[in-house]
Amino acid sequence: MPTPTLDSIDRDRLRQIQQSILAVAERPFEQAIALPATAYTDPDFYNWEVEHIFKQQWLCVGHISQIPRPGDYMNFDLFNEPMTVVRGQDGNVNVLSRVCVHRAMDMMPAEYGHPPEGNRRSFLCPYHHWSYGLDGQLLGAPHMQQNEGFNAKEICLHRFRTEIWEGFIFITFNPSLEPVSHHYAGLLPHVERWNLAEMEMVANLRWECDFNWKLLVENFMEPYHHMGAHHKTFEPLMPAAGTWTEAETLNYGVCHLPLANHLVEQIKSGQSIETFYPPHTLKPEDHYEYAVYLGNPDFLLFIGPDQVYWYFLIPQAPGKMTLHTTLLVTPESKQLDDYEQKLKQTIEGLQRFHLEDMEVCTAMQRGLNSDFYSPGP
Ligand code: FES
Ligand SMILES: [Fe+2]
Repeated sequence: MPTPTLDSIDRDRLRQIQQSILAVAERPFEQAIALPATAYTDPDFYNWEVEHIFKQQWLCVGHISQIPRPGDYMNFDLFNEPMTVVRGQDGNVNVLSRVCVHRAMDMMPAEYGHPPEGNRRSFLCPYHHWSYGLDGQLLGAPHMQQNEGFNAKEICLHRFRTEIWEGFIFITFNPSLEPVSHHYAGLLPHVERWNLAEMEMVANLRWECDFNWKLLVENFMEPYHHMGAHHKTFEPLMPAAGTWTEAETLNYGVCHLPLANHLVEQIKSGQSIETFYPPHTLKPEDHYEYAVYLGNPDFLLFIGPDQVYWYFLIPQAPGKMTLHTTLLVTPESKQLDDYEQKLKQTIEGLQRFHLEDMEVCTAMQRGLNSDFYSPGP
């Protein structure tokens, strides 16, 4: 019998993980169990997810309110690609590679003090001073005209395929993927009353997470843990027992978190319990619940009548990810007399409940490395 190579062993293991995931997915709902631990820990499976899930789908990388003026930019690295999201002179949003076309330098390395966000008229590569416009087009390259065949017009930073949906900026590595508006068409009726494109991001907290991205997504979409991890924060407001999930669809999922009965009664009697001004276009019943939405694969929205949370996931390794938890409110809310105070309290609340999720997700990842865990019901 031939000795298996390392490569073939890895492939076998990957296939085995995929088969056990499929076996879990095929079980009837009443007999559902968790995914195998290797789905959260195996480096080969993580790399497979990057190529076959993340790089094939729409990925949300920001909200238009983060870059309101021409020249506003923000940098991040996604799957080893240094990127910048920038508002062009024409007002359009461009998502560009920060990799200089000349010798591949990341033009704004954060570790050398380049601010990860700000405003600029153009991009200048520090190495040989090639400069690029806000649309990525080469503007100048010192002395390169001496190089035969050099044509500045043909040189441009890589532009990622970008579309805006309800004010959120999406990119994809897949040139033939359907437009994001088709992809999330079913999600629109749920969220359009919030006029998300008009809202403004007023908080953006960064977290370094020692857990797999799916733990966060699963945690986000199951309010059963309100009675455990959030028994002091969410459970009294949105009791786990009243929550319910809509039938699953291919591109998105919806879970409703009705407010506790006494709060709904309070609202119905005309007392507002909201912190910020809600959009005018909400239906009366929109005030009686929060909801969480998952856009396949990792677009996470947590929406209440007067506040919207968007989570930006940046997976880095099987057990590692950077996360931004952000808060959006209506622009009118900024006119509230005690706006600053309300914002501060809301951000403290976000920190408090997200720390509860950080604790459980980090501790679950440790448990998933145990030899003695097998997927529970
Ligand atoms: S590497 Fe950017 S100008 Fe040379
Ligand atoms: Fe949670």
